[in-house]
Amino acid sequence: MDGPRLSAAPLDPAAPLRGATVVVGVGGGIAAYKACELVRLLDKAGAKVWVTMTRRATKFVSPLTFQALSGRPVFTDLFSLTEEASIGHIQLADRADLVILAPASANLIARLAAGMADDAVTSVVLATKAPVLLAPSMNVNMWSHPLTQRNVQTLAALPHISIVGPGDGFLACRWVGPGRLADPADIVEAAASLRTPQDLRGRRLVVSAGPTQEALDPARYLGNRSSGKMGLALALAARRRGAQVSLVLGPTAQVPPPGVEVVNVTTALQMQAALAERVPGADAVIMAAAVADFRPRQVAPQKLKRSRLGGELTLELVSNPDLLAELGHARGDERRPLLVGFAAETEDVVRNAQEKLAKKRCDLVVGNDVSAPGIGFGADDNAVVIVGDGGVVATIAGSKLVVAHGILDQVVARLG
Ligand code: PMT
Repeated sequence: MDGPRLSAAPLDPAAPLRGATVVVGVGGGIAAYKACELVRLLDKAGAKVWVTMTRRATKFVSPLTFQALSGRPVFTDLFSLTEEASIGHIQLADRADLVILAPASANLIARLAAGMADDAVTSVVLATKAPVLLAPSMNVNMWSHPLTQRNVQTLAALPHISIVGPGDGFLACRWVGPGRLADPADIVEAAASLRTPQDLRGRRLVVSAGPTQEALDPARYLGNRSSGKMGLALALAARRRGAQVSLVLGPTAQVPPPGVEVVNVTTALQMQAALAERVPGADAVIMAAAVADFRPRQVAPQKLKRSRLGGELTLELVSNPDLLAELGHARGDERRPLLVGFAAETEDVVRNAQEKLAKKRCDLVVGNDVSAPGIGFGADDNAVVIVGDGGVVATIAGSKLVVAHGILDQVVARLG
């Protein structure tokens, strides 16, 4: 078989599943109930979802459930006149932009590895030219059995088949170990990656995100309004585009995206140490974190008490290192890794961003106006102007994921 067919639906990197026709093939296993959540999440992501089920899968979850969740008829029988009349299974295979098998049971995997097309699910897989994503789920011993492993390797060797999971943990059969269906959100994320151009594959990126907190005493700290959303969007977008991503993350309530290495830090000095470990050998570093410029000279060992202070408190602050400038100045003339800084400004965004570009020896600086309503700190959206050596290279406005992809377009263009 030649490579997977290009998608019929237009690709939008910030919403890669929107408008895509996704066929979910449900195998017979207790994790079939989790495929309900998968269908719901795919539908929420804007995909047109069609469900096919093996006969055994219908013993675990009723086709009616999937019909209600997808809003479309469900395929369970190759020879059903009513099902085939709505849209034939070959038509469905042709129309698919992506096929996801979840749960892919040992039996389903074995039948596929043997090239069988003896039910609605396997027939769609054999007939489609679309990428196929396999999410295995089974008993730990069935998973580790040499026959299953051989079958999985046979399928994984095909250019259009990818595998997500299985996870490790408690299984419905009371065993503990690998065999859990990957989390539905992680399956959706793997699907999103399959529908995103892989122009950062083979690249390693370091992204910093969030605020830093500088302790005053055991109860208080100096911090800032960064939520981490901008940096997390960059990590997510880079991961989807195929990069290996290390995310150096200050304290945040946000959940980091799956598939990235997360290094949690609290202070600027901890962020400095984490960067020193991760940056060597990286292809690009993007500093979206809002790093504190100052920290208290001393951290009080006990909580500062108003009664003991006599009503007034004078804090003595010392400068934190400028992490971005350090990275910029440590680079040799080959200017690797590519260095992208941010500039959080309240006026003269372009001029200030250009000044930071030169002062911190960056390749790009992303300027944003953090005084404008609805963008910048804490917001879901941003509006940025990107400056490079030749001046303004791009202006982007939209969700932080849209902005992240716009920034990565500039990174990709410079990595060559
Ligand atoms: O996290 P969100 O709520 O999504 O908000 C996003 C954001 C507004 C924090 C983000 O878009 C942003 O602007 N990040 C940079 C914030 C900042 O610290 O800007 P700055 O202009 O003070 O610093 C310039 C650059 O130097 C930044 O890349 C910063 O990471 C870096 N820096 C700053 C101080 C310091 N001591 N060390 C540094 O490396």
